[in-house]
Amino acid sequence: MNNASIGVFDSGVGGLSVLREIRQALPDESLLYVADSGHVPYGEKSPEQIRERSRAIARFLVGQGAKALVVACNTATAAAVADLRELYALPIIGMEPAVKPAAQATRSGVVGVLATTGTLQSARFAALLDRFAGSVTVITQPCPGLVEYIEQGELESARMRTLLQRYTEPLLIAGCDTLILGCTHYPFIRPMLQSVLPPDVTLIDTGAAVARQLQQRLIGSAMTAAGPAQACRFWSSGDPQALRRVLPVLWNAQGEVELLPF
Ligand code: DGL
Repeated sequence: MNNASIGVFDSGVGGLSVLREIRQALPDESLLYVADSGHVPYGEKSPEQIRERSRAIARFLVGQGAKALVVACNTATAAAVADLRELYALPIIGMEPAVKPAAQATRSGVVGVLATTGTLQSARFAALLDRFAGSVTVITQPCPGLVEYIEQGELESARMRTLLQRYTEPLLIAGCDTLILGCTHYPFIRPMLQSVLPPDVTLIDTGAAVARQLQQRLIGSAMTAAGPAQACRFWSSGDPQALRRVLPVLWNAQGEVELLPF
């Protein structure tokens, strides 16, 4: 048993969609969350810039006593998870667009991936396609703008709908029946996304799978907590009040947010 915390981070509020799954799967674990909202979006940054931020945040979370890290961001995983695993011997769980389950689920043989430019351009994503796409056609769609709206707590606006229609139209024309939410911000706009899609299009995200993977790693390393969990601690490198305001919607609870000191 190990009652130290699990450190989770993202470029902003997106990782809260993963944090919710972790809370549900592992209710006895204490959680630390860093939103790098002062540097969002990661999707348009260079891999080196993302690695630098990821290293600094990982160092901070380990300094806070984290026993394991979850990179709750597809873009940061693509750029930095290998680097973090070289630096720390802790369990480090990353996230990737769910190409394998989508390739198994599609009936039309055409799968769409909504993700950031950074994720879609990464060597890690190319390797994922090589391994799991098989005979399925995978069509990628970078989605600049979505993350910025979601960061502002804007989940259902008219301009969000317009952007979603623009991004999904080419995928539908190509015959996609399965869409991968390849960015941890996107589960928060699932209802709006579903409303611009035909009812037979399936959306797939990876939050729950990541929580299960974390659980298996903790059990395998005899590192699970006995509980009870402490209240989740939050930090933001942007405006802590902005994160505090969206927590009741995105995390289903209030929380205190501190300013990330770097
Ligand atoms: N939430 C992030 C992801 O899963 C990235 C969003 C961004 O900062 O561009 O890719």
